[in-house]
Amino acid sequence: MKAVTWQGFRDVSVEEVADPVIKEPNDAIIKVTSTNICGSDLHLYETMGAFMSPGDVLGHEAMGIVLEVGRDITQIRPGDRVVVPFQIACGHCWMCERFLYTQCETTQVRGEGSGAALFGYTKLYGQVPGGQAEYLRVPEAQFTHILVPEGPPDDHFIYLSDVLPTAWQAVEYAAVPDGGSLLVLGLGPIGDMACRIAQQKWIDTIIAVDLVDARLERVRARGVQVIDLRKHEDDLPDVVRELTDGRGPDSVIDAVGMEAHGSPATAAAQRVTASLPDAVTEPLIKKAGLDRLAAVYTAIETVRRGGTVSLSGVYGGMADPMPMMSLFDKQIQLRMGQANVKRWIPDIMPFLTEDDPLGVHDFATHRLPLREAPTAYEMFQQKAEGAVKVMLKPWA
Ligand SMILES: NC(=O)c1ccc[n+]([C@@H]2O[C@H](COP(=O)([O-])OP(=O)(O)OC[C@H]3O[C@@H](n4cnc5c(N)ncnc54)[C@H](O)[C@@H]3O)[C@@H](O)[C@H]2O)c1
Ligand SMILES: [Zn+2]
Ligand SMILES: [Zn+2]
Repeated sequence: MKAVTWQGFRDVSVEEVADPVIKEPNDAIIKVTSTNICGSDLHLYETMGAFMSPGDVLGHEAMGIVLEVGRDITQIRPGDRVVVPFQIACGHCWMCERFLYTQCETTQVRGEGSGAALFGYTKLYGQVPGGQAEYLRVPEAQFTHILVPEGPPDDHFIYLSDVLPTAWQAVEYAAVPDGGSLLVLGLGPIGDMACRIAQQKWIDTIIAVDLVDARLERVRARGVQVIDLRKHEDDLPDVVRELTDGRGPDSVIDAVGMEAHGSPATAAAQRVTASLPDAVTEPLIKKAGLDRLAAVYTAIETVRRGGTVSLSGVYGGMADPMPMMSLFDKQIQLRMGQANVKRWIPDIMPFLTEDDPLGVHDFATHRLPLREAPTAYEMFQQKAEGAVKVMLKPWA
């Protein structure tokens, strides 16, 4: 079959690889009809190469038709239409019983000290072949699927794999009080969708920040107040405080993650480390790269005292210097993690109706054949041609 493979720094290619087969009695094989590129794939493209091997099959936002199931699978049958959650979870362990599917004890990658295995996501998460391919092997298929009805196009359901539950969890974890205010940093697919969900939850004040025209415009067009970071590199926290009674927003969602565009706060942190001996700073920079923390620093600096920061942006590195003094002194609640996909599906389903309140029907800005993945990755990484969400079609 054809599959999108990681080859190196900013290098993916479409290769011929072996078709997946049933290996365990609770596997399923699906024929992939649509599969997205995610901001998380950009971490692999850019930063996390150390945890990838050339040839790894990418992708964790797939849906399609069940082709074959192992002998223990009774929950789905060949011909069923399913969306595949990005994490692999058994549905019955201690963690799954508590809806913490990204911590599933059956699939935890214990050798690496990581949580549940993820599709197409580095050795840290089990090196499981991903869904940017013609076919996908789904382990723990008794639970790792979302059945969806026949009829409507894939666009109506595909975001259940990641974007919708991730944005939903971001808003839940932000715990905005009644009549409260929310700041959303980053307007890629996750931040954009978090704004849409916040609007559905009648959050009074929503302010959103990015630095890409097309992304700012898309969110502004749906009635959200946006701020262009390029115009406020020096005073973003002040500008946001002015809009929120001088205190700062009750809650901040960081939907940026470690590909963040730098900020003056970071420059200051970098100046501090620049005065330290190399022996101290080198491992710091190697492990995390200080500029990668720009968005989380902004979130901590801007949230009101006693407020909540909800991180959905992915961070890595053990040596990330966190501003412990601000976190403690401002009494900030910090909540984060990969989204527990199936935890939120029952809440989201009522919004996937014909009148489309979340705007999923035309959420994708690009739909391209899978063979064009190398150009698609480059376009998405550079945020060129208005690309916000890129869908790949294996059979186009
Ligand atoms: N927690 C989860 O389960 C989960 C799931 C999916 C994605 N993610 C993560 O969420 C993040 C966003 O994903 P995405 O698909 O929307 O990615 P994306 O890369 O398209 O979006 C990030 C956006 O942040 C903007 N940005 C960069 N620096 C900024 C700054 N300093 N301030 C404000 N905005 C800034 C960029 O211009 C871009 O529009 C990524 O880190 C991704 O890995 C997490
Ligand atoms: Zn994703
Ligand atoms: Zn489990």
